[in-house]
Amino acid sequence: MSEVIVALDVPTADEAFALVDTLEGEGDFFKVGLELFTREGPRVVEKLIDGGKRVFLDLKFHDIPNTVARAVASASELGVDLLTVHSTGGADMLRAASEAADEGTRVVGVTVLTSLSPSAVEEIWGREILSLRDEVVRLASMCHAAGLDGVVSSALEVESIKRHVGASFVVVTPGIRLPGGDAHDQARVVAPGEAARKGSDYLVVGRAVSQADDPAGVLRTIKAEVCGESVRS
Ligand code: C5P
Repeated sequence: MSEVIVALDVPTADEAFALVDTLEGEGDFFKVGLELFTREGPRVVEKLIDGGKRVFLDLKFHDIPNTVARAVASASELGVDLLTVHSTGGADMLRAASEAADEGTRVVGVTVLTSLSPSAVEEIWGREILSLRDEVVRLASMCHAAGLDGVVSSALEVESIKRHVGASFVVVTPGIRLPGGDAHDQARVVAPGEAARKGSDYLVVGRAVSQADDPAGVLRTIKAEVCGESVRS
C-alpha cells in the first residue's frame, strides 16, 4: 500500500509546523528538504520526530564517499526514516552511504530528477538517451548492488524498476499532481491514483498540498485517490 509524504517546502520552522498542524490527523510522514534544513537545521527534524512524526530527510548527498558516509551517520543519528543520496555519486559513495546508516534509516538514491526531461538529461550527460526509463533502471540497479534500500524516481519508471530490481526495493516518487494541477517545474508528473497503481511505495507531495487553500482537504483527496476511492485518472 502506497503512503503519502508531505514535503515541508517552506522557508521557516514556524511555517512548517503551521502546515503540520493544519494537516493534523491526515499526515504523519514529512519531508524536510534543502530550503527548510538550510535555514533551520536539525532542530526542525528533532522537533518533528519528538512530536511522533516520521521524517524523510531529502538533502540529496553527493560528495566523496567519506564525506557522504559521515553525513549519513549524522542524519541517521537524528532518527530520520528515509534519506537521499545522489546515485550519480558512484558505487563507492553509495556503498559508503549504505554502510553508514543505522538500522532504522533507509537510504534511497535519487536517479534522475523528476524536473528533468529526456532532452535535459542528454544535454547534461552529453550523449543520446534512448530511453530515460532504461537510464533510471540502470541507476536503480547500481543503487541496489551497492546495498541501498531504494531509489527516488518518477512514478512513470516504478514498474520497470520493480520488475528489474525487485518488488521489495523501495521506490519514492515525487512529481505527483492531481489531474489539472499546475506541473510547476516538474517534467515527469503522474496523478496520485496512477502512481499508487504503478506500485510507488511513497508519493512525495509538495506544492499541491502546501500551496492549496485547503491543504488538509487536498491531502484527503490525494489519499482517497491512492486508496482507489475516487474516479480513476
Ligand atoms: O512541489 P512538488 O510536489 O513538485 O515537490 C516535490 C518535492 O520532491 C520537492 O521537495 C523536491 O525537492 C522533491 N524531489 C523531486 N524530485 C526528485 C527528488 C525529490 O521533486 N527526484
